[in-house]
Amino acid sequence: MVQPTKNGVKGKTKNSSQTQQTTPQAASGQKTGAAKATPPASHKAGTRKNGYKPLASMEEYEAVAKKALEDPEGYWGERAKSLLHWFKPWEKTLSYDFNEPRVEWFAGGKLNASYNCIDRHVEGPRRNKVALIWQGDPEDDVRIWTYQMLYDRVCRCASALKNIGVRKGDRVVLYLPMIPEAVVVMLACARIGAVHVFVFAGFSAASAQSRIQDCEAKVVITADGMFRAGRVMPLKANIDEALKDCPTVRRVIVVNRTNMSTSMKERRDIWWRDLMADRSLNARLPAVPMDAEDLLFILYTSGSTGKPKGVMHTTGGYLTYAAHTTQAIFDTREEDVHWCTADVGWITGHTYALYGPLLLGGTTVLFEGGPRWPDPDRYWQIIEKFRVNTFYTAPTAIRILIREGDEWLERSDRSSLRLLGSVGEPIDPETWHWYRDKVGDGNIPLVDTWWQTETGGIMISPLPFTTPLKPGSATKPLPGIDVSVVREDGKPAKVNEEGHLVINKPWPGMLRGIFGDPAKFKENYFSRFPGRYLSGDGVRMDEDGYLWLLGRLDDVINVSGHRFSTAEMEAAFNAHPSVAESSVVGMAHPVKGEVIYAFVQLNADEKATESIRSELRKWVRREIGPIASPEYIQFTEGLPKTRSGKIMRRVLRKIVSGQIDELGDLTTLSNPDVIDSLVEEYERLVGMSSMR
Ligand code: PRX
Repeated sequence: MVQPTKNGVKGKTKNSSQTQQTTPQAASGQKTGAAKATPPASHKAGTRKNGYKPLASMEEYEAVAKKALEDPEGYWGERAKSLLHWFKPWEKTLSYDFNEPRVEWFAGGKLNASYNCIDRHVEGPRRNKVALIWQGDPEDDVRIWTYQMLYDRVCRCASALKNIGVRKGDRVVLYLPMIPEAVVVMLACARIGAVHVFVFAGFSAASAQSRIQDCEAKVVITADGMFRAGRVMPLKANIDEALKDCPTVRRVIVVNRTNMSTSMKERRDIWWRDLMADRSLNARLPAVPMDAEDLLFILYTSGSTGKPKGVMHTTGGYLTYAAHTTQAIFDTREEDVHWCTADVGWITGHTYALYGPLLLGGTTVLFEGGPRWPDPDRYWQIIEKFRVNTFYTAPTAIRILIREGDEWLERSDRSSLRLLGSVGEPIDPETWHWYRDKVGDGNIPLVDTWWQTETGGIMISPLPFTTPLKPGSATKPLPGIDVSVVREDGKPAKVNEEGHLVINKPWPGMLRGIFGDPAKFKENYFSRFPGRYLSGDGVRMDEDGYLWLLGRLDDVINVSGHRFSTAEMEAAFNAHPSVAESSVVGMAHPVKGEVIYAFVQLNADEKATESIRSELRKWVRREIGPIASPEYIQFTEGLPKTRSGKIMRRVLRKIVSGQIDELGDLTTLSNPDVIDSLVEEYERLVGMSSMR
């Protein structure tokens, strides 16, 4: 048995083992079992106009999955060839060694991400098709760009970046809100072979600084400020703060988003509009042929250590995987309007708001705002406004909207929807049903997709209309993805036994390393179970081979689908002059999945007051970012420790999950007397807050 499962949103509930099918029979209430799904009329077997042939049945899925595992080179080679344009074909489809570890896909092949996302569409009948629909936080702020318009802007931006000295391999940091310029910069970097590194705008100056330092960025692109639910928040000021100690940064480009007063540093800072106004920019700048294994982007994510990891994704494999999974999971049709609500600064936004849809020549909606402003029907209004067909969001957003009441839903027309997706955290069956039955019509597919920043794209998910659904389960791995559930000793777990989710074979979208730290790449992912990729997630496989994801097994907290490392949070607390020591754990939460719960021991001469509690909360928000606000800060006289001085987080996790009677063996504690006061104070704090 794997210890412990931290996430309170467990899969199994009264109806969790029932199979739900996206079929007319299921809708009419007939008993369906786990048998083959009958596709509705809209899911005609056979080849789509765009050349894609969906799998027609689970028998076909089993056959393709078997073939893909027996011949990964044949399977992925066909995918790469039919989905992408290559300037030069590759010489070797796959070469890898998970022990070193080393992975190479499509070595010797040449291609360009920007060319694949834009040029090839502009050269054909999609030239005047809408590529981007951008909805700003203010309702009237809408921009709609065709592929031709996007091409023009990307070429000019790429040309401008070249003019200020950006070269192939240079890192460009984007610290931007969800505005179309973000897409332009990402594709412009790719066009000239520069590496884009997005730092989500909800991170603080200190977090931006450590990422800019780690990747040794040459250029930073930011905005004066950003809109959040009608309010304006500064961004450029954070960059000024961050750049006090970033000697590699030569230029800062500033997009004027909010018209707020902004200080500009001479010779370093330049307004976006001035940069782009240069008439000599080349609006036809050719895309540079890149090696398949050249770096496309870095994205920082939290692991179990204090320092964020720069996850590296390369060109050929990532693009193949982004295009393939978008097509297979969203069953992309030529006329589709696809909306992924994730910020483009996260991996979900990279793969399913930008690269995946554009690679397939689709229309993608980008939304700058949040689900509740100005009213809690904003998402539904946007679906109606743009007649969205495929909608992809996080369970937290759905849970927030459930709480607002069904009447908000009823005011909108969502009949355009033909597919719903969920990502980022486990989706509990209650939320699943509301999403599918109320947001959808109860009969369209809901794909619960499991994946990670490191995997580049979706790994475990139903295939729409093909895979019978079980609410709360991400169902089965995609063909070509070889997963196992293993015990602590690496042996296979039994049916329904919780274990570690590992991946046995490489896939094209997988990370190629941690920027600047090959040792960490090995240690983090390939050392716990040698020869296998460790996901860090707990899982169990049921009797039908369905996977039930159970949350993280390492020291990572997943708040509303955002990852935080407990070590990073603790380092932030400990840096405060009044704090002696701290320990941070995740606590199950009905809306956000998990929240941050901190146990803090203050210095002996420091009094535990409400004012220091609120100061510490502000401090952590400043150190890491507003997205990392701790839900609870509990003061304590001491933390439970082993005789060797290690904090026993197991005990703290049990306390915050309310399992006070199951604290386990406490005989190894050097200070068992702290337990009673820890429990007492926990009950007071949590009880007090639930009364508010
Ligand atoms: O714990 C899993 C959870 O999110 C983690 C990955 O987080 P991140 O790298 O930020 O990427 C988020 C977007 C893919 C995973 O290790 N997770 C993601 N999707 C699911 C999930 N947990 C359960 N079910 C999912 N569908």
